[in-house]
Amino acid sequence: MDIRFFEEERVFKIDTENTSYIMALTDEPGYLGHAYYGPKVSDAYARLLRTGDYPFTPDVNPRDKLGFLDSFPMEYSFHGTGDFRETAFKIRTEGGNVACELKYFSHVIEKGKPGIPGLPACFGDNALTLIITLKDAPTGMAVRLYYSVFEDNDTILRSAVAVNEGSGTVFLERMLSASFDMDDEDFELITLHGSWARERHIDRRPLAHGFQGVSSLRGESSHQHQPFIAIAEKNADQDSGSVYGMQFVYSGNFLAMVYKGQYDNIRMMMGINPEDFCWKLEPGAEFHAPEVMLVYSAEGLGGMSRSWHDLIREHLIRSRYKYIERPILINNWEATYFDFDSDKLLAIAKTAAEHGIEMLVMDDGWFGNRYDDNRALGDWKVNEEKLKGGLGKLVEDVKALGLKFGIWFEPEMVSPDSDLYRAHPDWAIAVPGRVAGLARNQYVLDLSREEVKEYVFKCLTDILDSADIAYVKWDMNRQLADLGSAQLPADRQGELFHRYVLAVYELQERLTSRYPDLLLENCSGGGARFDAGMLYYSPQIWCSDDADAIERLMIQEGTALLYPLSTMGAHVSDCPNHVVGRVTPFETRGYVALAGTFGYELDITKISGEDRAMIPKQAAMYKKYHGLVAGGDYYRIASYSENGYHDSWLCVSKDKSEGLLTFIQVLNRPSRHTVKLKLRGLSPEKSYRIFRFDMESGEEESFIPEALHGDTLMNAGILIPRMNGDFKGILLHIKTT
Ligand code: DGJ
Repeated sequence: MDIRFFEEERVFKIDTENTSYIMALTDEPGYLGHAYYGPKVSDAYARLLRTGDYPFTPDVNPRDKLGFLDSFPMEYSFHGTGDFRETAFKIRTEGGNVACELKYFSHVIEKGKPGIPGLPACFGDNALTLIITLKDAPTGMAVRLYYSVFEDNDTILRSAVAVNEGSGTVFLERMLSASFDMDDEDFELITLHGSWARERHIDRRPLAHGFQGVSSLRGESSHQHQPFIAIAEKNADQDSGSVYGMQFVYSGNFLAMVYKGQYDNIRMMMGINPEDFCWKLEPGAEFHAPEVMLVYSAEGLGGMSRSWHDLIREHLIRSRYKYIERPILINNWEATYFDFDSDKLLAIAKTAAEHGIEMLVMDDGWFGNRYDDNRALGDWKVNEEKLKGGLGKLVEDVKALGLKFGIWFEPEMVSPDSDLYRAHPDWAIAVPGRVAGLARNQYVLDLSREEVKEYVFKCLTDILDSADIAYVKWDMNRQLADLGSAQLPADRQGELFHRYVLAVYELQERLTSRYPDLLLENCSGGGARFDAGMLYYSPQIWCSDDADAIERLMIQEGTALLYPLSTMGAHVSDCPNHVVGRVTPFETRGYVALAGTFGYELDITKISGEDRAMIPKQAAMYKKYHGLVAGGDYYRIASYSENGYHDSWLCVSKDKSEGLLTFIQVLNRPSRHTVKLKLRGLSPEKSYRIFRFDMESGEEESFIPEALHGDTLMNAGILIPRMNGDFKGILLHIKTT
């Protein structure tokens, strides 16, 4: 790891263990150009800026300044002075002008990794940070670009701060966090798309001229698009090929874009969505744009995933639970929906305790008159008709059975049919004079208002202080629309989306500081707020409301492209599955949930005795293999979404002494060879034995009798016996001899 400025050449060079990132300054006027990003190189090499190409540098030939700005590989592009591509930064002055020209002013290289006020950001020792200040003299706007690297990771953390050093008010209309230009090398674009119950499916397509990418305007990162974008060489696969990836440490509206220009040059950008965003900067004020994780991998998509998994585990998640085995929970949502009382919950808890489950989570429906999803959000008072004797009694009764207790909240919302809304209708986000739209019969609270935020915090803490609660599921079940705050002035209404996200962060920061032992799980109608921002506050996020084992293969593959398995909320749920009606073996549901936090979401008192009897064995399986899943390196071995037949992934311990391979045969196929899998990530020289986990006995049995070297297993591969029937799974433990 190194960051250097080469004075004579006017070149900045950032080196991680395997990559180099090079920027350079032109002669006067000092534009900051992007020269190179890719595998590590030895030289501070800036010739790729092409300052000698037609139409020449503006100082040599100022009449061609516009042509220059429109083709120069800009590091952080600006709007209105001749760069006609999609740009990263746009302001509007009080006079209504949008022209801006950011030129180099100064830089510093510091030890450490600064945080970002009010926003989630990577942290840790052994880091270096480069801060380059650019300025636009006529408006007095300054932009500080941040680049941080850690010794142990190839990712570059980027963010930016805008400072109004002028004498007039300026409106920030676009302030992306990161941008850089390079040549197109026949790249393909990779994004994750989805919907409710179908989150994070992988999309891959060729790059076209013009702009392309994904975004959210829903006030959250969304089911539909992930705050992530990658470009990959056409032949890049799990092991090889260049991949450039950007991921946003942010949980609100975003824009992730690649622009391909007239010279087949491309610009990759990420930041807060400029649509519906306008931030007023009075003289002296600053705006902090959230962090982007930028990575280059020469080891294909697998290399990108592993860099980010390590970064997120080591430098983003703060919760003390990140590597600790989490309690095996049972959640009552799919078991009872709103139809429960303490007797029902205790019956579930009693059977759960007898079968090795460690925590009961009481989901939606325990407060106010919440007998269905049409009412009571905001009235966070225990419904004693349901919880006879109150919450404290239920918690103590559950604890007496040997289980911990967890609870569900949806703190950001208010139902029109609630005491809260009747008392404070103006606390809901709405545009005066318009009837705001409902979703799930609820409004969103205007968390940009101090009194609303304080009310929410008090509701949370009143409940958490009243009983011994080990876990909170923080849910959020609608998007933001009809944006209007009764309190913000007209010229700050464009700040509401971002202020809302800042308030959610502040609430979770205060909550996790006040209850450091609390296990927090974020959730948003399933996985609509599964993003790196939320992982700063909670070590796990509910992946999707679809817990069908087969649907989860695709959802979890897409999720694991970015996030460590330890973050993925995954449960064994009821069958026929409540979303797709599919029936899958209990055993297979267990294998798929093992690739996440592991728990149950069913009425344990009602499932078949045979399935129930498998729970203690699955619990033992989780205990045995959890460490490998949570702390190991993740290798994608086969993809059901690509081959239409089977799915497989492998977790390898950091010292490569063992691995856990999961294989799911989705549909059985007649008259075909057995599947050959080439393993990945093992040590070529080490010798391994392979054991199969037998769910019946809960023991491991030999799968291949002889010891085999890692190179044999990775190059020649292993055969997976065909299993009779559909939706079957197999779990193999690979251990050094
Ligand atoms: C959406 C969540 O994803 C579900 O797990 C459940 O908690 C419901 N909300 C409750 O309303």
